Amino acid sequence: MASRVTPFIFRSGPRALRQLQRPQWRSISATAPSRSDSLMVHRNTDVNNPSIPFKFTPQNEKIIKEIISRYPSQYKKAAVMPLLDLGQRQHGFTSISVMNEVARLLEMPPMRVYEVATFYTMYNRNPVGRYHVQVCTTTPCMLRDSDAVWKACQDHLGIHNGETTEDGLFTLLEVECLGACANAPMVQINDDYYEDLTYDSTVALLKALQHAAEATGAKPGPIGLGGEAGKGAVTGKDRNVKSGNEINEQGRAYEAGGVKVPTPGPLSGRKSCENAAGLTNLTGEPWGNETLRKDGEL
Ligand code: FES
Repeated sequence: MASRVTPFIFRSGPRALRQLQRPQWRSISATAPSRSDSLMVHRNTDVNNPSIPFKFTPQNEKIIKEIISRYPSQYKKAAVMPLLDLGQRQHGFTSISVMNEVARLLEMPPMRVYEVATFYTMYNRNPVGRYHVQVCTTTPCMLRDSDAVWKACQDHLGIHNGETTEDGLFTLLEVECLGACANAPMVQINDDYYEDLTYDSTVALLKALQHAAEATGAKPGPIGLGGEAGKGAVTGKDRNVKSGNEINEQGRAYEAGGVKVPTPGPLSGRKSCENAAGLTNLTGEPWGNETLRKDGEL
């Protein structure tokens, strides 16, 4: 009997011991938790509650008519996303009143509109600063040092994730991939992408935007609260911009209130997403018929 049990003990003993030694749990995430309840929950505040009236401007009403006409009349709720976007651009953020007005216009239950607005992070459901700085920290950006860009924003602005500067000029947010990985690391500031960033170029960009906002007298804070946030970053179309895109010794830049601001796009000297190391293939002369058909026939 003993001779039958002994091999079993030798085989299973060490295995059981190994399992006992191995911890039976592991931590799922080592990063600081980022609470998601801000995405889902609405709490009435002085600046965001249903008793604050919201109406689209006559100019936007015309645009809404045009947007709704693109869909069959029984499916006009399909226009919910562009209408929310329009509301955000007019009001500065997607307040509960904006959502309710969109629901009324599209004859939808308000809850259906809330569901859309809380799902997509491009709808800011709280006031944001004049410049909404969204830093991508997903893998391709992280591999090209988005940590430095994130640090530059925090160092220079003195705020952390989800916060707004005291002067209401900047709101900082960490976001997932924005689809410009070939030009990583990058940030989105209002409607514009700034790419191929480093610590120094990020600080320079923020400083330029800050000076431009001061020089052009842009009012900080959301439009609905007397500011001009949500208009989009200062671009060549802004009223106080003196000259359009031009190439200067620092690269592409435009002038706003006498301040040179880098134009959106790569800040590394790249024109687009071409190979940063230059042309590495297709460098020879293209072949003609004389190479392809030595017999002279086509
Ligand atoms: S990972 Fe940053 S843009 Fe895609």
